[in-house]
Amino acid sequence: MNNSFACALVLAGGKGTRMHSDSPKVLKTLLGESMLYYVYKALKPVLGDAVFTIVGFEAGQVEKAFPEMKDRFVLQEEQLGTGHALQKGWDRITSAGVEYCLVINGDTPLIQERVVSDFLDAVKQDGSDLAFVSITPDDPASFGRVIRDSSGQVTAIVEAKDFDENVHGPISGEVNAGLYCLKISAVEKLLSKLNNNNNSGEYYITDLVDLAVECGMNVTAVNAGNSADLMGINSPFELAQAESSLRLRGAEKLLKNGVTLHNWESVIVGPGAEVEPGAEIFGPCEIYGRSKIERGAVVESHCRIVDSFVSGGALIKAYSHLEEAQVGPDCMVGPYGRLRPGAVLKEGAKVGNFVEMKKAVLGKGAKASHLTYLGDCEIGAETNIGAGTITCNYDGVNKHKTVIGEGAFIGSNTALVAPVTIGKGALIGAGSTITKNVKDGDLGVARGKQVNISRTFKKS
Ligand code: UD1
Ligand code: CA
Repeated sequence: MNNSFACALVLAGGKGTRMHSDSPKVLKTLLGESMLYYVYKALKPVLGDAVFTIVGFEAGQVEKAFPEMKDRFVLQEEQLGTGHALQKGWDRITSAGVEYCLVINGDTPLIQERVVSDFLDAVKQDGSDLAFVSITPDDPASFGRVIRDSSGQVTAIVEAKDFDENVHGPISGEVNAGLYCLKISAVEKLLSKLNNNNNSGEYYITDLVDLAVECGMNVTAVNAGNSADLMGINSPFELAQAESSLRLRGAEKLLKNGVTLHNWESVIVGPGAEVEPGAEIFGPCEIYGRSKIERGAVVESHCRIVDSFVSGGALIKAYSHLEEAQVGPDCMVGPYGRLRPGAVLKEGAKVGNFVEMKKAVLGKGAKASHLTYLGDCEIGAETNIGAGTITCNYDGVNKHKTVIGEGAFIGSNTALVAPVTIGKGALIGAGSTITKNVKDGDLGVARGKQVNISRTFKKS
C-alpha cells in the first residue's frame, strides 16, 4: 500500500554525540525496540512502503536491523547536517512520484500514527509549500526556536546555538519538533541555497523555513502544544524519560483492556507483545518482542519473556527467563526456569527450579522438576525426569538428539549421552551414564556397583 499524496524521509544518519555511544543513536532501545522501530511503526500505516531512510554513522548496523527496508536506505557518507541529509535523499524523494515529502527526525520514538495522519491531513487542506510541527515544551532546551512576526506569521527557525535575543527577540517557548512536510516542486528550488554559515558549521534543514518565506512561499507551523509525543531523544536521560513514559502508557492500556497487573508501574511490555485481557502479571517483569500471554496465564515477578507464547492456565513462577519458547495450557515453569529458543512445553508439563531447556519438547504432563539440562531432545508424555539429569548433546563438534518415550522414568543424576533413545515406559537407574539405547519398558543402569567393605579399627 502506498500513499499517493506523500512519501517519507527519516533522518537517521547522525552519530548522536550527546548519547555517548559507539552505536547509532536511532538503534538505542525503549522497551526492547529501537527508536527507529517506533518511527516506522507510526509512519507505515499512513505512508505504506514509500519510507526512505538516511543512514550514515554505522550505516551497516542500521541496515542490518531493518532488512525489510532494504533498498530504501540512502547513505549520507559525511554527516554535514540535517539539510545535507535532505539533499542526499532528494533523488529518492522525487522518484516516488508524489506531491509531498514528510521528513522526520529518526530520534522521535514517541511519535504516534495519529499525529502523522493529522499533520498530513492539515497540509492536504491548506496546500502549504512547507509545513512543520511546532511544540511548546516546558523547557525549550536545545530545540530550534520558532520565530514569528508581529502578525503571527512564521518567519524562521533559529537553532538554539545560533539564537540571540538581541537579534531574534525574546524567546517565545515555541520550538521545532523535527517533523516537516515539504511540497517537492516548491522546496526543490531552495535546496541548493542551504549553507553552513552558522555556529555548528552544519547544513540545517530548518533554514528552509527562512528561505521559503523570503521567496514568498506559503509556510505554516502546526502547533501541537506541550506534546511529549514529539520530543527528540538526544541523551541517555531523555531516552530514560521517553522509555518511562512509553512503559506507563503501555501498562495503562493493558489495565484498561482488562489485564490484571500487580505493581503495575514496573511491568514492561514491549510494543510488539500481546497480553490478553484476563492474564495476570506481577511486576517487576519484562515481556518483549513478539510474545503473547493468553487469558488465564499468570506471570510472576522478575520474569523476562522474549518472543515466547504462554498459553492460558500456565503459571510462570518468579525469576524465570523465556526466549523463543512455547508454554502450553496449564503448564508450570520455575521459579528460576530457563527456557531457551525451541523449548516447547505441551499441555500440563512442568519445569521446576534451575531447569534449562533448549530445542527441547516436553510432552503432555511430563515433568522435569529440578536442576536439569534438556537440550536437543524430545520427551514423551507423562515422563518424569529426575533431578540433575543432563542430556549430553554436544560431542565437541556436533549436536546430537536424545529421544525419550512416553511414561519413562529417568532416575536422578542421569547423563544421557546423545544420540540415544530411551523407550516408552523405560526406567533408568539413578546416577547412570547412558550411552546405549534402552528398549521400551526395560531398566537401564550404567554405574559402578556399590561395594561395601567392612573396616576393622585397631585400638591403639
Ligand atoms: C533538530 C532540529 C531542531 C529541532 C530538533 C527536534 C536541525 C538543524 N535542528 O535538532 O530545530 O528542534 O531537531 O528534535 O535540524 N541527522 C542526519 N544527518 C546529519 C545530521 C543529523 O541524518 O548529518 C539525523 C540524526 O540522526 C537525527 C536527526 O537528523 O535523527 C536530527 O538530528 P539532531 O542532531 O538530533 O538534531 P537536533 O540538534 O536535535
Ligand atoms: Ca535530536
